[in-house]
Amino acid sequence: MSGTAQIGVTGLAVMGRNLARNFARHGFTVAVHNRTASRTHALVEEFGKEGTFVPADSPEEFVASLERPRRLVVMVKAGEPTDAVIREFAPLLEPGDVIIDGGNAHFEDTRRREKELREHGIHFVGTGISGGEEGALHGPSIMPGGSVESYGSLGPLLEKIAAKAKDGSPCVAHIGPDGAGHFVKMVHNGIEYADMQLIAEAYHLLRAVAGYSPGKIAETFRSWNTGRLDSYLIEITAEVLAHTDADTGKPFVDIVADEAEQKGTGRWTVQIALDLGVPVSGIAEAVFARSLSGHKDLRKASGALPGPRSEPLGEADAAAFAGQVEQALYASKIVSYTQGFHQIRAGSEAYGWNIDLGAVASIWREGCIIRAAFLDRIRAAYDDRPDLPSLLADKGFTEEIGTAQDDWRAVVTAAARGGVPTPGFSAAVAYYDALRAERLPAALTQGQRDFFGAHTYRRTDREGSFHTLWGGNRSEVRAD
Ligand code: 6PG
Repeated sequence: MSGTAQIGVTGLAVMGRNLARNFARHGFTVAVHNRTASRTHALVEEFGKEGTFVPADSPEEFVASLERPRRLVVMVKAGEPTDAVIREFAPLLEPGDVIIDGGNAHFEDTRRREKELREHGIHFVGTGISGGEEGALHGPSIMPGGSVESYGSLGPLLEKIAAKAKDGSPCVAHIGPDGAGHFVKMVHNGIEYADMQLIAEAYHLLRAVAGYSPGKIAETFRSWNTGRLDSYLIEITAEVLAHTDADTGKPFVDIVADEAEQKGTGRWTVQIALDLGVPVSGIAEAVFARSLSGHKDLRKASGALPGPRSEPLGEADAAAFAGQVEQALYASKIVSYTQGFHQIRAGSEAYGWNIDLGAVASIWREGCIIRAAFLDRIRAAYDDRPDLPSLLADKGFTEEIGTAQDDWRAVVTAAARGGVPTPGFSAAVAYYDALRAERLPAALTQGQRDFFGAHTYRRTDREGSFHTLWGGNRSEVRAD
């Protein structure tokens, strides 16, 4: 017998609970289940008025309460807990049913699970969901992978609960088969790390070089948020910087331990980028900056290392410098997104996902952590040229970087001169200059490799592989 619930959510910690409420608020009948049944009943008691919930105390009851084909959202911790839930539920399901994993799973796990379940006729949809607790309740950005068929059954529900872009379109799209959704969510998080790092560097520069207070920097960010940097992360940065600690009366940012943590999705992005051979230096620097901040003992032991002598700027110079920092932040942000989208394209090609990059930009416009006015520009760039080799090649971005580049370079110079670490800004400039360089010193690297390891090189003027007899008469031989 088929139940009445159009969708079910198992795992009712805050993300799962808010997602269940979001479905219910949109008129869907939602089966709810949690390993500890008290949590299920607490949800229904507290939020039952928001819609129709069907509480289930056991996996059997939960599965029986779902209409067919069943749609079952799993919101448990990534890794073994997800496998455990699948092991528990899969035997109760039938061909055509859909399991949706809404956690931050590694896309390789998602590929494995999708393959295993496909053999039993069950669809497995690894879905990126971004927007935190608030997004889950009021409208997240949703990145589902899995089969086209599963999207046919699931898409209409997701489209209802997703955030809506300003043009009214829902921030959800079928990303591609098997692990494509979780891959794209992973890169989203990598870009999120890079965005946060760049903003942190802008703050550090405004504080250390311009001599601004956290309150004044909050005002600066607020004004930036009315322009091209308009984004959720800039908005919340201003809030954090304007906040005062109630106990001490100090700026909140001064009483927080300066050791950044990470759950690991940024690290995955870099690990996978290394495997794919994609230079995501901005994301990597962001991951390393968090890591370095956490090495408190090392930092303490290095505190006496000599640094430059520098004075904060005068008022007028500080204001001019703040303007330059805005340019540097914007230009570096373009580079981060360029690298992130390069990684998505490379993943799509390596795994045969056929990901529409414009659609990805489109569903990141609202709901997710990196939501920003800027994403509309990226979407337009890919709509204009779906085969755009790099975001930097878009005419609009090329022009903007051209305008920003003097200030961008001046900021990186000021940072180095003032002893302010800006790995994100500096890596972004280096990436930009490396891409536009006619000749790179990689030719010398090849020469060195050939010298010590006979690793061979290719020539600019002829086809084939060559090796120079460095120990002998230095004549060149064909190596292929
Ligand atoms: C989101 C967030 C979310 C989470 C990340 C980042 O898109 O809603 O990215 O997934 O906040 O796990 O957390 P860390 O900074 O701890 O890696």
